[in-house]
Amino acid sequence: MVNPTPILEANSLYHVYESKSEEGNVVALRGLSIEVGQGEAVAVVGPSGSGKSTLLKSLGGLMTPTAGRVFLGGTDLTKLEGSDLVEHRRSTVSFIFQEGNLLPHLSGLDNVMHPLRHAGVPAPEAKRRAIAVLDRLGMVPRMKALPEHLSGGEQQRVAIARALITKPRLILADEPTGSLDPFTSQSVLELFRELHEEEDVAFLMVTHSRDVGDFADRSLELRDGRFVAQHGEGVEFDALSQSRELLVDELGTVSFPPDILLELGGPGRYTVGELEPGRIVLQSEDAAATAAAGSDRAYVENCPACGHEYADDDSNRCPDCGSSRPKQ
Ligand SMILES: Nc1ncnc2c1ncn2[C@@H]1O[C@H](COP(=O)(O)OP(=O)(O)O)[C@@H](O)[C@H]1O
Ligand SMILES: [Mg+2]
Repeated sequence: MVNPTPILEANSLYHVYESKSEEGNVVALRGLSIEVGQGEAVAVVGPSGSGKSTLLKSLGGLMTPTAGRVFLGGTDLTKLEGSDLVEHRRSTVSFIFQEGNLLPHLSGLDNVMHPLRHAGVPAPEAKRRAIAVLDRLGMVPRMKALPEHLSGGEQQRVAIARALITKPRLILADEPTGSLDPFTSQSVLELFRELHEEEDVAFLMVTHSRDVGDFADRSLELRDGRFVAQHGEGVEFDALSQSRELLVDELGTVSFPPDILLELGGPGRYTVGELEPGRIVLQSEDAAATAAAGSDRAYVENCPACGHEYADDDSNRCPDCGSSRPKQ
């Protein structure tokens, strides 16, 4: 099967927040690229300030990145303007933000109906569909209330219902279950899973939640505006170093996550020890020097007492006769 066009593709995205403050400009995205396939669920994990929200806004066309291109459903967002951009976004993608961003003067029900009314769906049909989604989220009893009279979790559920009502091909979500209690959070994830499995809806979700991470097909780890690693299904958030891949971008840049960098020996000069397609061995110059110095004092290869050949064994006592192993 030929790979269908990805629902979302971004190449070399940069975003700089201009600032006159002492700290100067903030580079929030540093040339990152991403591809989300049709119906794929991808999680983005990373510490506060790593650029997660900036990334989602850039990918959804809510913010124009300083450089780079974003293709949504095969169309270059950076080439669309005004009503064309709004229309393309509306027909493809929905957002779920940390703060609900509900229209304050409309009831929960009217907020959920709003995108459909905007798209010209007659009121009775819009109402029927809105109530069906709100029902899935347990919000029918509270749907007549204005957002200010709803709790944070209830507002979030209305925002989720509003995001789902248009049947988007892609949902961009920033901590979608962040303000929900564990029970509601589970029912939201069940709904997501159903959309994902039965209707092939794609998801890109910023999350700290293990459950959301488990729902995703893969997770990308963001640090300082770059993706540094990718994890398979069911990420162990407590052991990110397991089952991870490092990402090399099209400029050839690879950024190491801090824990891997520490293990490697920190920043410094590295030489290429071995190189072949698909495989590279980096050798720290410091480590090379240590190894070279160490080889001067290498152990003898045969036991001087019984002649035992140590071969690859680097023990310092002969396994045959028990003699200690002298240096060369
Ligand atoms: N409007 C803004 N003006 C200036 N700097 C900003 C603005 N929004 C975010 N930043 C900075 O950009 C970086 C990334 O922020 P953000 O995308 O919100 O990260 P995250 O969502 O991962 O916490 C941070 O250093 C943050 O302080
Ligand atoms: Mg954020």
